[in-house]
Amino acid sequence: MKSFLKWAGNKHRILDKLKPHLPKTDRLIEPFLGSAAVFLNTSYPAYLLGDSNFDLIQLYKYLQQEGQLFIDYCRLYFHDNFNSAEEFYRLRRLFNECKEYRKRAALLLYLNKHCFNGLARFNQKGEFNTPFSYYKTPYFPEKEMQYFHRHAIRAEFIHGDFLVTLKHAKQGDVIYCDPPYVGLSKTANFTHYTSEGFSHTQQICLASTARNLAAKGIHVIISNHDTEFTRYIYTGATIISLIVQRNISSKGSERKKAKELLAIFS
Ligand SMILES: C[S@@+](CC[C@H](N)C(=O)[O-])C[C@H]1O[C@@H](n2cnc3c(N)ncnc32)[C@H](O)[C@@H]1O
Repeated sequence: MKSFLKWAGNKHRILDKLKPHLPKTDRLIEPFLGSAAVFLNTSYPAYLLGDSNFDLIQLYKYLQQEGQLFIDYCRLYFHDNFNSAEEFYRLRRLFNECKEYRKRAALLLYLNKHCFNGLARFNQKGEFNTPFSYYKTPYFPEKEMQYFHRHAIRAEFIHGDFLVTLKHAKQGDVIYCDPPYVGLSKTANFTHYTSEGFSHTQQICLASTARNLAAKGIHVIISNHDTEFTRYIYTGATIISLIVQRNISSKGSERKKAKELLAIFS
């Protein structure tokens, strides 16, 4: 099943390579949930799912709790009247200023489906700042949201830094970590899913936390770009190399192969 949000770093395209490395256990933990491609395409008895993007986790919680009622509420923003640059920038401002979490959650879905390349990007003040892009009929992902709602019966969602989520890990869990990629260059480094970004120090901290968890018998897998830096910080883990076809721009023709890896700590 496809994610109902478009999200930078979505892992749909590597599922067939990742899944054989995910052991069958009682619970899967994902501290970098994003658009939840792995959660949606696995079948664990229980899930613990975290992300530091507050609005993203709120959106998932409302969908989990309310199901169709919330889906119908989100659909109100997919009316033709809201499909213009003027309305987009008005609703983007409303999202950035609004204190009603349920409305913000629905607006996040609207912005994701009406913004340039579906890229949810936040500036340093924590404001959504992706520009408008005109789609004749923006897709309303009803079926995908209904599936998410059904699957989420087994899930607990946490808003917070990855360290907060990982504190809950116990023996018998398997953990899949998909942090923002380390940059391949200074410019091609998308880490602004939230206002904080994701630093090299955090990448190192994640790697050493994975090592500590593995020492306690908890299986951890981390995805990232395959670079000298990631190979260095994941020393001691089993490395699986992946060549991944990537869309690097909104033009379907500009596709590129990227070297990624899975680091398995067990
Ligand atoms: C590469 S994306 C995950 C993509 C996801 N696997 C998917 O299939 O869509 C990385 C996610 O990490 C989140 N993130 C960034 N910094 C974080 C932090 N310090 N702790 C937890 N999550 C963080 C971002 O909000 C983003 O959703």
